This record gives sequence, C-alpha cells and structure tokens, in this order.
Amino acid sequence: MPEFHLLPAAAAVSANGYDWLWWYEVAISVIMTALIFAAVFFFAIKYRRRSETEIPRPIEGSRLLEIGWSVIPFLVMLTFFFWGAALYFHNQDAPKDAMNIYVVAKQWMWKVQYPNGVREINELHVPVGRAVKLTMASEDVIHSFFVPAFRLKRDVVPGRYNDMWFTATKPGRYHLFCAEYCGTEHSGMIGWVTVMEKKDFENWLTSGGGEGSMASQGQKIFQQLGCSTCHLFDEQGRCPNLKGMYGSRVLLSDGRTVIADEAYIRESILDPNAKIVAGFQKDVMPTFQGLLSEEEILEVTEYIKSLSNTRSGMFTSEQTGPTAGGGRGGSIANAGQGSLDTRGTSMTNQPPRPEANAQAQDANQGQPVAPKPVAPKAATPGGKQ
Ligand code: CUA
Repeated sequence: MPEFHLLPAAAAVSANGYDWLWWYEVAISVIMTALIFAAVFFFAIKYRRRSETEIPRPIEGSRLLEIGWSVIPFLVMLTFFFWGAALYFHNQDAPKDAMNIYVVAKQWMWKVQYPNGVREINELHVPVGRAVKLTMASEDVIHSFFVPAFRLKRDVVPGRYNDMWFTATKPGRYHLFCAEYCGTEHSGMIGWVTVMEKKDFENWLTSGGGEGSMASQGQKIFQQLGCSTCHLFDEQGRCPNLKGMYGSRVLLSDGRTVIADEAYIRESILDPNAKIVAGFQKDVMPTFQGLLSEEEILEVTEYIKSLSNTRSGMFTSEQTGPTAGGGRGGSIANAGQGSLDTRGTSMTNQPPRPEANAQAQDANQGQPVAPKPVAPKAATPGGKQ
C-alpha cells in the first residue's frame, strides 16, 4: 500500500511551527463545524412543527445569547491571527549568525551563490541544524521561492531584496518551486534543496567553486568600474570610505540616518543621489543601473561587507571538518584585507582631510562582530583591520 501523507515532509524548524498551527486550525474548524451541525439537528427536531394548527410561542430573543455566540467564536478565531502573526514575525528576521546564501531568480531558473564563490542552478545545498539566510533578488519579473518541506514561501520581487531564513532539521532532498506565475516556463522553474550533515556540507562547499569568493569577484568589479578611484580607504576620497560602513549607522546630508544594509548598498549603486552621506556632494557618482547584473551587485555588496570584517557566519564556530578552516575559509576575509593593506599603506602618508570626518562611519577596529548600529564618530584614517 502506498504511503499516504497528509502533509509534505517537515524538514525545518519553521515547518513544525506552521504544522502545529495548521493542526490547531483543523481541530477548531472540526469542533466548530460539529457544534453548528449538532445545534442545527437538535433544534430542527426539538422545535419541529407538530401539527397543522400549531402556532409557536413568540420568542423575544436574548441579548446575552446573541453577544455570547458572536464574541466567543470571534475570540477563538482570533487565536489563529495571533498565532499566525507570531510565526510570521519569528520568521521575519534572520538570527545574526545565520549563514548567508544569495539567490537570484531569472526566467526561468534559480541561481544560487555562496559567499565563497560556489555557484549552482536550481539546487540549494544547506547544512542541517544551522540558520541559513537567503538574500534574494530578481533579474526580471516576480518569482516566488517556495520550499514546501520548510513551509516557507517568499516572493522575489525585481528592484529590491527579499530575505528568507530557516533552520533545516532533517537531511534529505526537498522540492523547490517557483510559486508565482512568471511566464511560459514558470512550471519548469523548479529545483531541489539538499539538506546535508554539517561535515558533508563543509566538504561539499570547499570542493566547489574556482572563480574565487564573491567578495574577491566584487572587488574586481569594484576596481574595473573605477569605484576604487573615489571610494578610498581613508578620508581623502571624493566618495565615502566604505571600510567599516556595512552594518553601521550612516548620517546623511539631509540629517537622516540609515543603517547601511544590503538594500542601502544596492540603492546607492543604482541611484547614488538617493541618499548622500553627510559631507559629500550630489552627482559625483554616476548610476550603475543597467551596467551591473543583480549577481554582480551582490558580489560588490559582499566585498563591501568584507571591508567591515563582519563574517558571513559561514566559517566561524561551526567548523567541523579539517578542511573547513583552510582554503576558502580565508578567502572572504583575505579578499578585502589584501587590498586594504596596500591602500592603507599608500594613503597613510597623506594628511587626513578634516572635513570628511563628518562622515558617519566606524572603522570597526578589527572585531569580527555581527553588524550592529554604531554611533556616528570620526573614522580612523588608514586604520588597520
Ligand atoms: Cu518564476 Cu514562476
């Protein structure tokens, strides 16, 4: 006899939460339906017309009863809302130590890239028991990233990033679907999520790639496009120093402050005038709209992140295998630091430009801490990581 599953396999922490809610809703629905039908039958029989001439006694009604049977079911149904909202909010923000993976949706495929440069298409490999954050972008139209085994679905909307995070609980291979009609081959925009044991995952991750880490590829783009001629790593540049910028609180020329996150970096690349850092001019930086693909923007972003020494979380305390600490482990950090050191040396000979110190940045003196908002303070020119 073939196995019958009422629900798909549950392979993530999020799945358990949603399944409990689902069973609770089923239970409440069954109870409510049973109560209503029982009442219908009971009253139909009890108050049936017994003879042709029977004239029923008029009933005045009861306010207490009316309010009671309106308010009590309402409160019961409202628990769906609060439970659902709690799950929704819990699944909204990834933990700080989550492993970052980037997903770019495109008609009609899912392109996945790991910070160390490993790429795959229509496949996503993740370790078991580890929080994973997907930063997702679309090259064209709205897609929707759907993994039934995780009970998670998130639209991937062009022009912005959409995040999603999960902690897989069971090794195996699970379906990945596009759940938003996106054109002729929408139904073929499917793939697999492979959940692996931590050690297997480390081995898998360190054996792939070859193009270098995302950060090093981003650094190449950064230099090819001439970004490095204005974004210097001290206060001499015509554009803000990007060292230590990621995750910090940035003071803008109009007095607002923003947290420098992925979305801010993306906007600043595509629409540089949208948010000008205090102490800098408009129209200095050209837009790179149309010059960079979403994947390249993510690589540049990963490079800028590496300048803040914020680990992606991929190679930190979770290292299991002997290979995990070597090779690629260093690549994210090295990509940024190699260039920092050369630039730092060549620039420290020049006196700092005082007015640029208004810049709201933090040099993050080499602490491998998670990104957190920091108070605006003068950046340290040529500060070593
Ligand atoms: Cu992509 Cu449907």
